[in-house]
Amino acid sequence: MLLENKHAVVYGGGGAIGGAFARAFAREGARVHLAGRTLSKLEAVASEIGAAGAAVVDALDPRSVDAHADALERIDISVNVINHGDVQGTPMDEMDVEDYLRPVDTAVRTNFLTMRAAARHIKRHGDGGTILLFGGSGLPLRGYSLGGLQVAFEALESMRRQLSMELGAYGVRVVTLRTGGVPECIPASFAGAEQLTKSLEDMTMLGRCATLEDIGNAAVFAASDWGRTMTAATINVSCGALIDD
Ligand SMILES: NC(=O)c1ccc[n+]([C@@H]2O[C@H](COP(=O)([O-])OP(=O)(O)OC[C@H]3O[C@@H](n4cnc5c(N)ncnc54)[C@H](OP(=O)(O)O)[C@@H]3O)[C@@H](O)[C@H]2O)c1
Repeated sequence: MLLENKHAVVYGGGGAIGGAFARAFAREGARVHLAGRTLSKLEAVASEIGAAGAAVVDALDPRSVDAHADALERIDISVNVINHGDVQGTPMDEMDVEDYLRPVDTAVRTNFLTMRAAARHIKRHGDGGTILLFGGSGLPLRGYSLGGLQVAFEALESMRRQLSMELGAYGVRVVTLRTGGVPECIPASFAGAEQLTKSLEDMTMLGRCATLEDIGNAAVFAASDWGRTMTAATINVSCGALIDD
């Protein structure tokens, strides 16, 4: 198994993407700590994968994040996939400034807090570790308004570069999974689910999108010793929807 003896924290672990990371990490032998807002959602994933812990943590509150992290024996892998309160579907010229800025503020704030908590652990134990980001640089979508979400992801990319540079010497690796969207996350109840899935598939070169299992596998690779050469880097999991420079 690729992640034996590694301790992973997944913020937003009761959600679709967080659950996928948690399942993949557990499958590869990691001790997984789920953190999030609703205990029942976290416990559902925890009982399925035999998680080491499931805790209510407000990932926007420094005291909550630090208290949770300080109580853990160690952190080797940290990934934050809480949602960012973004408003989609409204053209920029019709948008409220607070709605536009909320995802930017939320993404930067929460990732700052959880990166900081993980980096302190990794620096302390000295064995190296990985901080993963999910989203990455993207292109404006034709015919669909993403609000401030892409700006938020671009800000996280800037944080990835800076943290990698500052803490590489301590074995802290920072890697982004660059996604073109995972249709399995679209709620079946969403009226336009089929159409949105088709448009995501049409944007790819491979004619299919990443599955939750695909992104879990990519995260395992990035966080394992197989990815030990990677930092300040991205893994493109977009099936060709996004083209690397
Ligand atoms: N799905 C995709 O295709 C895709 C593509 C690109 C990027 N992303 C990004 O990936 C992230 C996760 O997406 P998802 O589809 O997995 O969303 P999701 O299913 O809604 O999961 C997000 C989880 O974050 C938790 N959360 C929200 N605020 C929190 C806070 N302050 N503290 C702790 N936990 C909090 C939520 O808890 P509650 O349920 O209790 O509210 C929820 O369980 C989002 O940031 C999204 O923008 C997703």
